[in-house]
Amino acid sequence: MRQVGITGVGSYLPEEVITNFDLEKIVDTSDEWIRTRTGIRERRRASSEEAASDLSLVAAEKALACAEVAAEDIDLIIVATVTPDMFFPATACLVQDRLGAKRAAAFDLSAGCSGFIYALAVASQFIANGTYNTALVIGVDVLTKIINWEDRSTCVLFGDGAGAVILQPVEPGQGLLAVHLGADGSGGRFLEMPAGGSRQPATLDTVKAKLHSIHMNGPEVFKFAVRILGEASLAVLEKANLTKADIDFLIPHQANIRIVEAAIKRLGLEAEKVFVNLDRYGNMSSASIPVALDEAYREGKLKVGANVLLVSFGAGLTWGSAVLRWSLPPKG
Ligand code: UT7
Repeated sequence: MRQVGITGVGSYLPEEVITNFDLEKIVDTSDEWIRTRTGIRERRRASSEEAASDLSLVAAEKALACAEVAAEDIDLIIVATVTPDMFFPATACLVQDRLGAKRAAAFDLSAGCSGFIYALAVASQFIANGTYNTALVIGVDVLTKIINWEDRSTCVLFGDGAGAVILQPVEPGQGLLAVHLGADGSGGRFLEMPAGGSRQPATLDTVKAKLHSIHMNGPEVFKFAVRILGEASLAVLEKANLTKADIDFLIPHQANIRIVEAAIKRLGLEAEKVFVNLDRYGNMSSASIPVALDEAYREGKLKVGANVLLVSFGAGLTWGSAVLRWSLPPKG
């Protein structure tokens, strides 16, 4: 089996900024409540013309430029998302066409906010076993399009964005050291978009009942998140034959600062070793980890040889963690 690493990263965030003060004008909430309960100050919102493939395309082009890889050389594209442009064709196919990645197989993957780590795990298998040499993995979500703007318990939490990585073979001892994935479908009802699928196809009634938007039991998801971030982190470290003391940098799913702080405590990490951007972007679901990864890389926080831990939880319920020995040097 070959070692697989990240050889390029890129991200894209829509221009429009929605602050907590903007939300105060829409629902019965306050900047103070949102900041203290979640840590979020503002988030980005895609324009009416922007869908998941548009955000993905820009992030993918940046990742390709970073890796110095041509679109024609991509063998596989996986887009992790719960907000595809449409049910079918897959958003990955739309991206494949617009990139001109003619040789690439392409499909979408749905694992809620854990989608990017799931996609990383899947794509890396194809490269490790020699089937493919170059994969493009994108995490994208445009959650503002499926928010019920009358529901203050969800509309303040989410934002839009896309992040992308290029995966290729790397030297032994570098790149992805271990992945750990899990799911507990019994908790699926705690975070869902109830209608629009084959269970409750779209009707006037489902639209009127606002069943095409995010429905969430916040406290249940919170309890799960606090437990699983620690457990999934420890599980993947064990698989990589590492301990908590070996973590040089942590990139957790950016959902709520209180959830991140609980993970930091469980892992006994110094705050400087943890990346947080949820104050600026809110929860971008599948895009959360790759956007954070791109920003941390560009800010020089990911040193070559560092053990970088990624950990996420999300709808499903799902969780995923990965340990990377960072191998991408800083570029211009
Ligand atoms: O990627 C996975 C996605 N989901 C998550 O990560 C969500 C995880 N859960 C959470 O982050 C937290 O549960 C929330 C931030 C969603 C909610 O925080 P909480 O501390 O669990 O609050 P709560 O739901 O227990 O609500 C406390 C109070 C309630 O009022 P009462 O019943 O005490 O009078 C809510 O109605 O806060 C009220 N509330 C709000 N007040 C002002 C809920 N949302 C808001 C709001 N502004 N936006």
